[in-house]
Amino acid sequence: MSLWGGRFLDESNKLFKRFNTSLSFDYILAQEDIFASIAWSKTLLEIGILTQKEQNKIESALISLKQDIYENPEKILKSDCEDIHSWVEINLIKKIGELGKKLHTGRSRNDQITTDLKLWCKKNIQILLESILNLQKQFILVAEQYHDIILPGYTHLQRAQPITFAYWCLAYVEMLKRDFSRLEDTLKRLDVSPLGSGALSGTAWNIDREKLALYMGFSAATNNALDSVSDRDYVIELLASASISMMHLSRFSEDLIFFNSSEASFIELSDSVTSGSSLMPQKKNPDALELIRGKCSRVYGALFSILIVLKALPLSYNKDMQEDKESLFDAIKTWNNSLLMAILVLKNIKLNKLLCYQAAEKGYSNATEVADYLVKKGITFREAHYISGKIVLHAINETKALKDLDLSEFKKYSHLIENDIYQHITLESCIEKRIAKGGVAFNQVQKAIKKEKIRLNIV
Ligand code: ARG
Repeated sequence: MSLWGGRFLDESNKLFKRFNTSLSFDYILAQEDIFASIAWSKTLLEIGILTQKEQNKIESALISLKQDIYENPEKILKSDCEDIHSWVEINLIKKIGELGKKLHTGRSRNDQITTDLKLWCKKNIQILLESILNLQKQFILVAEQYHDIILPGYTHLQRAQPITFAYWCLAYVEMLKRDFSRLEDTLKRLDVSPLGSGALSGTAWNIDREKLALYMGFSAATNNALDSVSDRDYVIELLASASISMMHLSRFSEDLIFFNSSEASFIELSDSVTSGSSLMPQKKNPDALELIRGKCSRVYGALFSILIVLKALPLSYNKDMQEDKESLFDAIKTWNNSLLMAILVLKNIKLNKLLCYQAAEKGYSNATEVADYLVKKGITFREAHYISGKIVLHAINETKALKDLDLSEFKKYSHLIENDIYQHITLESCIEKRIAKGGVAFNQVQKAIKKEKIRLNIV
């Protein structure tokens, strides 16, 4: 069933009909379409297209339609309507007859679809904001639980300097804070109502679009109808926010996959988020994390897809734009599921304190400390770096850690080195010294955790 028979003499080709329909995926906008239609009916009442009685009847029928869908969402999929807007209108007409045919006065599916989509984005942004906060909370809880665990920090995947697990957690909390604020920003810009823009040049009825926007909970109405029906910037922004956040989740996954590897064994993942091998009985694979890493790419795909759909698309609405939805819906679901999965992984993580510590002790991750020690004794940093490098080379040849070198071995490279070198190069000392803002020092980390607990309302 379609809404546009008048101008046509022939039936649509069946294959074309199937190619053209968006109902199989835009049916999830049913609640939004009904919500916006109720607001529109109020506007029609204000300009005298509907009487109060008629508006009441339309509103009640739309509410009962909403109830029908709530009870049986699959119901929509059984129809052969072109899209969700047609489905709602046709089913309204089925319920109340001729009166239902008044609803589309002054409205176009072009302003309807972008209104519905914005409402859907607003609803889902709230869900995502909540999930981001919950993941931050989980990071803080494990940071607190494992605050005293020292492990190697890496650059180029080479042991670089020791850090603590809590500090690593706080790094991800910072990334998530940016993800949160990016989403809030996206929300702020998309929170303007396009309804009442008509097909492209505005509606011929003198409606109060600002009032209509407020009915739907938007903060204002858009300024230019041509732009309003053409605009999908908010889809791009939302997918860009999703992509950046998925990149963070993917790096988090990669870090943990490495920490969990047999070679590192810093952590053990819970049975509840890992799976076994059908062949090798000893295996416990980090599937949840590998899937987050893998799913990051489909979110990027959604972003590229909408960017390419819109590039070189003439104003205003073109059917190409129907391609914005499937990948957006999929990407948002994927993002939220990945956030939930990250929470689950962290909730049950176990750390191996001893192995973390032993790994941090290996790899000369305290070599910077030797250089800094020499600087304190009056040598320039570049010279100190050179001497420390020589000492490391010597230690490598002797297969010793720096702390296991005798004082006489140190002295071969600089007579300035005294017995106090040993207390300078302990892992704890490496950490304690980094007290400047943003450093890994235990008390800095404790302070940060305390601050985050207050911000996140963790009691
Ligand atoms: N199904 C369409 C979409 O998703 C709705 C807008 C249709 N407008 C039109 N003039 N055919 O973009």
